[in-house]
Amino acid sequence: MVMTSVKAPATSGRRAPGVRVSGLSVVYRTPAGELPAVSGVDLELVPGSITGVVGESGSGKSTLALSLLNAVQPPGRISAGSVEIDGLGDVVRLRGEELRKARGRHIGYVFQAAQNSLNPLKTVGKQLLDLGRSHDVADLRALVRDARDLLGRMGMDGARVLDSHQHELSGGMRQRVGIMLALVLNAHLVVLDEPTTALDMITQANILRIVREVHEERGLTTLVITHDLGVVAEIADRLAVMYGGRVVEQGPTRQVLGAPRHPYTQGLLRAIPRLVGDIDEARALPGRPPTLGTIPATGCVFRERCPLRAEICATAEPRAISLGESIVACHVAEAGAGPEGRTRQAAEARKAREEHT
Ligand SMILES: Nc1ncnc2c1ncn2[C@@H]1O[C@H](COP(=O)(O)OP(=O)(O)O)[C@@H](O)[C@H]1O
Ligand SMILES: [Mg+2]
Repeated sequence: MVMTSVKAPATSGRRAPGVRVSGLSVVYRTPAGELPAVSGVDLELVPGSITGVVGESGSGKSTLALSLLNAVQPPGRISAGSVEIDGLGDVVRLRGEELRKARGRHIGYVFQAAQNSLNPLKTVGKQLLDLGRSHDVADLRALVRDARDLLGRMGMDGARVLDSHQHELSGGMRQRVGIMLALVLNAHLVVLDEPTTALDMITQANILRIVREVHEERGLTTLVITHDLGVVAEIADRLAVMYGGRVVEQGPTRQVLGAPRHPYTQGLLRAIPRLVGDIDEARALPGRPPTLGTIPATGCVFRERCPLRAEICATAEPRAISLGESIVACHVAEAGAGPEGRTRQAAEARKAREEHT
């Protein structure tokens, strides 16, 4: 794919890139040595889809998001794996100017706590122009127009917001400015890390619906990270569930929600009142998620909180297997899968054979 700086027409669906995260591991240096925050993650973002990444605080979601932009900062580092993005190659290998250009122009992003990442001394409009100039946007007027439109769609007076400083905006308004900045350069891969946490439930749903609309109009590939499964369930085509630095389950949203295979996904679902219908039936997941220092080094990372824990869970790390359209890493799910449950490796081997015949 040839990269150009020409703005894609609003209806272009062709440019939505695919993303393949393979064997990705990220460690942080701590007084106890380097500890993994993300371990051997395999994840595919299907071109044109919205993927939701969910999991409790500390599961490695933000670290994964930063890795997609090769933006993990010391004391962290990507210790293994690759992030192949169509049109960019393996971003883990990109450096310097190449990397800077990729961020913003090809990958739009809102990092967690973006509410506070605006420059306090400059208006939003000035920062927008800086952003445009630093990415060689030829038509700055069109950029401002697009920014105003996006802000307007998110329920704000665009012109006024562009004239405002950070301190004149509420947390929820800053988050919407963050989303606008992620979308305005017309990048076709968009990474949103907890983009709506400062907003009430109704506004969150509205803003995410607008993200979905823009996603469809512009033909994007989008990753939305949240600790709130209920929020993302409605807009994501696919879901990846993280726990202890692993993706423990991933697949089409209706499959993951309709037939959750991993006991952690099942627990997250039971904890959402809206999805089980009756508020009295919502049961919080017992126990607490692990921290970097307490993630078990052997066996299944979820076993201490798992109602289905078996002996093998303490000794062997579950491998990722295909169950229906989902990929699940759980010994009990694997054992219960029966003859229909094929291992992922077997499925891949079969696919490779089919492709060669
Ligand atoms: N700069 C850092 N130094 C040390 N540990 C970190 C740093 N950033 C994140 N971590 C740890 O890495 C783990 C994953 O964090 P993070 O990716 O922010 O998770 P999430 O976004 O799912 O809440 C957590 O245990 C967190 O404490
Ligand atoms: Mg986070």
